Amino acid sequence: MANQDFLNEINKRRTFAIISHPDAGKTTITEKVLLFGRAIQTAGTVKGRGSAQHAKSDWMEMEKERGISVTTSVMQFPFNDRLVNLLDTPGHEDFSEDTYRTLTAVDSCLMVIDAAKGVEDRTRKLMEVTRLRDTPIVTFMNKLDRDIRDPMEVMDEVETELNMLCAPITWPIGCGKEFKGVYHLHRDEVILYQTGQGHTIQDVKTIKGIDNPEIDAAVGDELAATLRDEVELVQGASSEFDLELFLSGELTPVYFGTALGNFGVDHMLEGLTEWAPAPMSRASKDREVAASEEKFTGFVFKIQANMDPKHRDRIAFMRIVSGKYQKGMKMRHVRLGKDIAVSDAVTFMAGDRSAAEEAFAGDIIGLHNHGTIQIGDTFSQGEELKFTGIPNFAPEMFRRIRLKDPLKQKQLLKGLVQLSEEGAVQVFRPLRNNDLIVGAVGVLQFEVVTARLKTEYKVEAIYESISVATARWVGSENTTKMNEFEKKAYDNLALDGGDNLTYIAPTMVNLNLATERYPDVEFRKTREH
Ligand code: G4P
Repeated sequence: MANQDFLNEINKRRTFAIISHPDAGKTTITEKVLLFGRAIQTAGTVKGRGSAQHAKSDWMEMEKERGISVTTSVMQFPFNDRLVNLLDTPGHEDFSEDTYRTLTAVDSCLMVIDAAKGVEDRTRKLMEVTRLRDTPIVTFMNKLDRDIRDPMEVMDEVETELNMLCAPITWPIGCGKEFKGVYHLHRDEVILYQTGQGHTIQDVKTIKGIDNPEIDAAVGDELAATLRDEVELVQGASSEFDLELFLSGELTPVYFGTALGNFGVDHMLEGLTEWAPAPMSRASKDREVAASEEKFTGFVFKIQANMDPKHRDRIAFMRIVSGKYQKGMKMRHVRLGKDIAVSDAVTFMAGDRSAAEEAFAGDIIGLHNHGTIQIGDTFSQGEELKFTGIPNFAPEMFRRIRLKDPLKQKQLLKGLVQLSEEGAVQVFRPLRNNDLIVGAVGVLQFEVVTARLKTEYKVEAIYESISVATARWVGSENTTKMNEFEKKAYDNLALDGGDNLTYIAPTMVNLNLATERYPDVEFRKTREH
């Protein structure tokens, strides 16, 4: 039996990530969340990574900056009686497969929506990834200090486009210049918004009871009347919060506020820390591993290279699935069949990168890595385990890569295969010719790859455009049909870095035709490591 202190440590952890479309307010919310977690004193200290701040071609600069911001890759802080781990999801042009895979390492997500815009493209994509594990989602409708769309309509959009019921927990009173605060449906109280307090924790003014005449005095008769009408409507027409449905990813609690004005973020954080699941169990090839098991297990979901170009310091980010990490402990690198003593794992207390003495299931630790750790690797205390559910994702951008000096083809291939194992990029080799095609989900990945090929593999490569729209990993139980497909589709088939057969479609229409024509062949958007 695990002792109670150990279980308490695990049960108080909440590990989540933020999903949003660029500019919806993720950076601003992160900052306010850290403010409430007392991890920073005043807002304005977390470096934003907005698109305007980076020249596109200057990835080295960006990495340098990231050397600092890696400390914000994982942020751990206490809130109420919980210990929260917030995992950063790279967003603008640093959007990459890491963003997707980070979502496979959390137990819940906060979805931030710009309430003036509604559900946007990137959010849709990220939500697709959370669906792989039915991750519970908390929603924050942001930018209420601006003129927003009808909140009912935006919730409808979430329901129909993301296929998830919405249960409003707070309801806005006005918006834009007229934004007065929210009514908390569960607490039956109005919480008033005060402008000009975006950088500190506000003194909160609340009014108890929806019929309280103080509301009219505070927000004006008209807004008070509208609020009462809307609340009646909302209570009748929208879903009530249901913990079971939330935990199965079918319903999302919805909060309204303004991250910039620092209003509503605390309501959301209270809901999230109360309802989001404690560290969940996780499937491995042979069995489900519970967080409360005493023996340490974990898996690697991200490798960050060159954080400090001087040290060639690569960090493998590991989610602890069960047990406890202790400084100096021995863990087994299952794929290599090797036991290693780890004395210098990195933890992420309150935005500070520091050497961990101990860490528990639900936490993220960083292992120093000199090329022996790959994405998807499992670590254990002796058990031959292989965690599943840390996939590759089908790239959405493709370029042909070519050498300036054709004699170095071998190094190029070696470099690309290694970089693909690390998850920096994916590489495809068409069956019909000697092209090398690089695939990525974010544009910065291309630049990272050529820069790293140059510094680490001494090859200078350039890109050429190529007409590939998307890739799908293919396979079939039916060998006859598969052979037939391979013959017919030969021109569009390629092998990826791990020699897996891939269909590279010149257009989406082409892909749709192929999936219709070969119903016995599976076209997969993800591939397990
Ligand atoms: P992101 O990380 O999701 O990309 O978004 P970020 O927080 O950087 O916010 C994008 C822009 O939206 C920023 O403005 C930010 O100040 C603004 N913003 C965030 N939350 C709110 C809000 O509640 N209300 C209003 N009105 N604006 C909000 P920017 O001008 O692009 O950047 P900055 O120069 O102000 O940093």
